[in-house]
Amino acid sequence: MNQQGFAAEDIDTSRPHPARMYDYYLGGWDNYEVDRQAAEHVIRAHPQVRLSARANRAFLQRAVREVVRGGVRQIIDIGTGIPTSPNTHEVAREADPDVRVAYVDNDPIVATHAGAKLTGTGRAGFVLGDVRDPEAILARPEVRELIDFNEPVALLLVAVLHFVTDEEDPAGIVAAFADALPAGSHLVLSHATAEPYEGYADGRTDVKARDSVVGTYKNATAGLNLRDRAAVEPLFGAFELLDPGLVRVPLWRPDGPVPGPEELNDTIFYGGVGRKG
Ligand SMILES: C[S@@+](CC[C@H](N)C(=O)[O-])C[C@H]1O[C@@H](n2cnc3c(N)ncnc32)[C@H](O)[C@@H]1O
Repeated sequence: MNQQGFAAEDIDTSRPHPARMYDYYLGGWDNYEVDRQAAEHVIRAHPQVRLSARANRAFLQRAVREVVRGGVRQIIDIGTGIPTSPNTHEVAREADPDVRVAYVDNDPIVATHAGAKLTGTGRAGFVLGDVRDPEAILARPEVRELIDFNEPVALLLVAVLHFVTDEEDPAGIVAAFADALPAGSHLVLSHATAEPYEGYADGRTDVKARDSVVGTYKNATAGLNLRDRAAVEPLFGAFELLDPGLVRVPLWRPDGPVPGPEELNDTIFYGGVGRKG
């Protein structure tokens, strides 16, 4: 039994879980046969999904580095995922060792690993929580102990809002968090899309691949809601997008060579960072 009250036997292995499928894309070992089968379906339909997952992870790391260098000292990372080194607190603490991190995910498997890999070093906590219930997350004592809501916060919603349906109102969710955060706070957001990259002349939405991937996630514990740029950009709400805006994740303040248009087309995440004025 871990500190969240979950034992390894409580892990559901009857259905694929997005956290564990993502772990498989990233080459991790914290997944089960049901996840690997579903992930392999996705890989068959869209072989570049692993490339996208790695590019998304690299975006998260660059964005965290930038916001901490910019002076933010506390982070709420919702949709944490199964720990994958370097994790948010590790990246942040390279820039400033005093950064505090509240991790939140609704998947028990993340909770089972959190003690050893996320929160073991102190000044970091994990809570099982659902992004669709911002009030509950914001009210959690573990979050309020770590986060001073009078000081700027970086809210990470990286590769999580595509698990929220339109009816569940992703913009309203972001707005509820934004209301609780002071000026100078940042939103780091990435989101999956089926839209072709605008800089790739041969770019088309591969409808068959898209439908196959979405179909696979229908059997998982959370469905996939792919969105175009026009639907993702408004999610920033009160957070004003910083340069270079909402872009394919490898284009967000790259720290190395940038892939060509075809690879950007295959990298199916938009990413951006916004600041609340
Ligand atoms: C694709 S992973 C992203 C992990 C990490 N943020 C990253 O980008 O590398 C998505 C994570 O969001 C979590 N998730 C999905 N729906 C959620 C929800 N409604 N509330 C909280 N977490 C959720 C999943 O359990 C999974 O760990």
